[in-house]
Amino acid sequence: MFGGAAFDEINEAKANMDHIYNQTDPRMYFGELEKLDYAIPGRAKPIFRQLIAHLQRLRNDPVRVLDLGCSYGVNAALLKHDLSMRELFDHWGQQKMEDATSAEVVAHDRRFFADQGEPEDIEVIGIDLAQNAIAYAEDVGLLDEGFALNLETGQLPATAEEELASIDLVASTGCVGYVTETSFERLLPAVTQGRSPWIGNFVLRMFPFDAIEETLNDWGYVTQKLADQTFFQRRFASADERDQMVEQLSDQGIDPTGLETEGDLLAEFYLSRPIKDTAEIPIERLFHA
Ligand SMILES: C[S@@+](CC[C@H](N)C(=O)[O-])C[C@H]1O[C@@H](n2cnc3c(N)ncnc32)[C@H](O)[C@@H]1O
Repeated sequence: MFGGAAFDEINEAKANMDHIYNQTDPRMYFGELEKLDYAIPGRAKPIFRQLIAHLQRLRNDPVRVLDLGCSYGVNAALLKHDLSMRELFDHWGQQKMEDATSAEVVAHDRRFFADQGEPEDIEVIGIDLAQNAIAYAEDVGLLDEGFALNLETGQLPATAEEELASIDLVASTGCVGYVTETSFERLLPAVTQGRSPWIGNFVLRMFPFDAIEETLNDWGYVTQKLADQTFFQRRFASADERDQMVEQLSDQGIDPTGLETEGDLLAEFYLSRPIKDTAEIPIERLFHA
């Protein structure tokens, strides 16, 4: 089984989080995910930061990042500011904001992010199907531009094509699985109009990356997985979720012993780059401990 059909079956076994994705502010998202020690954007931050540093040197321009499945702008918050996931959990869990309206949270967060000091010299453009999350991330200034889109079901609108023509890095955490090769097929014509971006996806081990890799390959991309490294995404929501995921992995011939069997949902990092860039800069040269 390939792509969408395989992903549907895995998603059925995975805890459903849809109710937290499209709120008018991130309090519920962070409240629920803190209970599961959600960590992947924080684990991804040093990897994305190193890619951004390389791209800055290559392009000599502020790097433009497209965050696919950007939600409330979590990766933007971490990449633009000197903030950790712990600080974001604390910020959105503050007792004094418990009874605030979303409009009050937006006003408060706009000040909070403005007070973080000079942000990194990057632009972050976001795509997510959750319209409210996108609106929040734009309103507080985390996203420079946001598009509420579902590329699984619809084409990229012409209005987004220009904005996406000069993207340097496509980044995602926790998104592949919700999106398949279909989203990439619809994104690639736009993002490869000018300079072809590097594409970095953190992907849970149970979601096969083959179909997306093939699609990217058709566009002249080579995909490499960061060897011998897994990234903690979150704890399983229940013993039932763990058992089903462990079974899924075993069925795919992936050994979960000592990893997912211990209760951790783990991701791997796939970096896809144009053939020429991959040949010129080996993946090992990109990352330092
Ligand atoms: C687990 S969350 C990850 C959010 C964020 N990247 C993070 O790591 O905190 C998954 C996100 O994917 C979004 N999503 C689900 N299906 C999507 C689709 N077809 N296209 C774009 N985004 C989608 C959800 O709305 C949600 O914001």
